[in-house]
Amino acid sequence: MSALFQPYQLKSVTLRNRIAVPPMCQYSAIDGVAGDWHLTHYAALGRGGAGLVIVEATAVSAEGRITPGDLGIWNDAQAAALAQVAAAIKAGGAVPGIQLAHAGRKAGSNRPWEGDDQMAADDPRTWQAKAPSALAHGANWPRTPLEMSVDDIAQVQCDFAAAAVRALAAGFEWMELHFAHGYLAQTFLSPYANRRGDDYGGSYANRSRFMIETLAAVRAVWPDHLPLTVRLGVTEFNGHDEAELLEAIALATRFRQDGLDFLDASIGFTVVGASVPWQQTGFMLPLAERIGRASGLPMAASWGLGEPELAQRAVARGQIALVMVARAHLANPHWSFHAARKLGAAEPAAALPPPYRYWLERYTAGD
Ligand code: NDP
Ligand code: FNR
Repeated sequence: MSALFQPYQLKSVTLRNRIAVPPMCQYSAIDGVAGDWHLTHYAALGRGGAGLVIVEATAVSAEGRITPGDLGIWNDAQAAALAQVAAAIKAGGAVPGIQLAHAGRKAGSNRPWEGDDQMAADDPRTWQAKAPSALAHGANWPRTPLEMSVDDIAQVQCDFAAAAVRALAAGFEWMELHFAHGYLAQTFLSPYANRRGDDYGGSYANRSRFMIETLAAVRAVWPDHLPLTVRLGVTEFNGHDEAELLEAIALATRFRQDGLDFLDASIGFTVVGASVPWQQTGFMLPLAERIGRASGLPMAASWGLGEPELAQRAVARGQIALVMVARAHLANPHWSFHAARKLGAAEPAAALPPPYRYWLERYTAGD
C-alpha cells in the first residue's frame, strides 16, 4: 500500500490515511454561527476520503474574527452549530478537527472576494483590532491596532481555553491552534510586529511567551488522549530565514515538552513584501523535516502539495507525517480518491461511501 494511504495514529485517534484538509476560511457565517453552507461543505470534505478535516479558523472572541463572516466559538449557539459540522465530518469517515484563532491586527476586514482588505475605520461593520503593539500590518491592512494590555492578553488566553472546552463538547477530536499567518499569536512571536517593552516583547523568550502560555491554557482543558496541535509560521521568507527557523525549532522543542503532539509548519505572513519561493515545488518540506527531526514532533506541511506523486513522496521519505492539501480539495472534495487512482492504489474508492464507491469501482470512464 502506498505511504499516503497508510493509516496514521496519534494519541487515541486513527486517521484512515495521511491526507488532511487544512483549515480554509469560508467567510460565510452569520454572527459566527455555521449554517447550511458549512454543513454541506464540510460533509462533502468528510466523505471525500481524507483522513482528517480541520474546520476553518474559528474565532475565540468576536474581536478575534478576520471578517464578519468568520466562524466563532465564543457562545453556545455557535458551538451547537459546530457540533453538527463535526458530526457531518465524522459521518463521512474523517476525523473532525478545528482550528482556534484570533485575527489580531488583521481583524475587521472585508471578505477576500469583497476587497481582501481592512474595512475603513468608520465602516459600521468593522471593529477595533488589538495586537501586541500599535503597528499596522501594512498593504491592505493599514489600520493601527490598539496595543494589548496584560489583562487583554490574559483574557484572550482564557478565550482560547473556553473555546477548546466548547470544541471538545461539540465533538472535535483534533485541536489546532492558529499560531501562523500574521494573526495574533504570530505577531507576538514576530520582532517585526511586536515592539513591546514588557515580558511579552523583546527577547525570543518574551516574544514566545504568548504562544507558550496560550498552549498551556488549552493543554489544561484539552484531554490528553486527543491530539493537540499547532500551526506555526516557521519563517517569513524575508532574508532572515535561518534565524527564524532556529527560533521555530526552539519553540517546537519547547511546545513538545509542554505537551504538544504535532506541528504544522507554515508561513509567517507577518511582513509585507516577503519573497516566498512559490515556484519551488514542495518548498515547505525541507523546513518541516528539519523542525521535526530537531524537535521530535510529527509534522505536517502545506503549500502546493496537491500533486499526488509529490504528496506520496513527502510521506514515503518521512519528511512529514501528514500532507495538508487545501485548494486542491476546493477543486475536488474527493481529491483522495483521485490521488489513490493516480498512484495506482489497489482499492482507490475504498474510503468513499457505498453510493459513490460502488459505481466508481465498477466503471472508470468519465472521471
Ligand atoms: P495575502 O493573500 O495578501 O498574500 C501575501 C502575499 O503572498 C501576496 O503577495 C500574495 O500574492 C502572495 N501569495 C499568497 N498566497 C499565494 C499563493 N498560493 N501563490 C502565490 N502567491 C501567493 O496574505 P494573507 O496574509 O491574507 O494570506 C496569506 C495566505 O494565507 C494566502 O495564501 C491565503 O490564501 C491564506 N489564507 C489564510 C487564512 C488564515 O490563515 N485564516 C485565511 C485565508 C487565506 P498576490 O498579491 O498575487 O495575491
Ligand atoms: C486558507 N488557509 C488557511 N490557513 C489557516 O491556517 N487557517 C484558515 O482558516 C485558512 N483559510 C484559508 C482559506 C482559503 C480559501 C485558502 C485557499 C487558504 C491556508 C490553507 O490552509 C493552506 O495552508 C494553503 O492554502 C496552502 O495549501 P494549498 O492550497 O497549496 O494546498
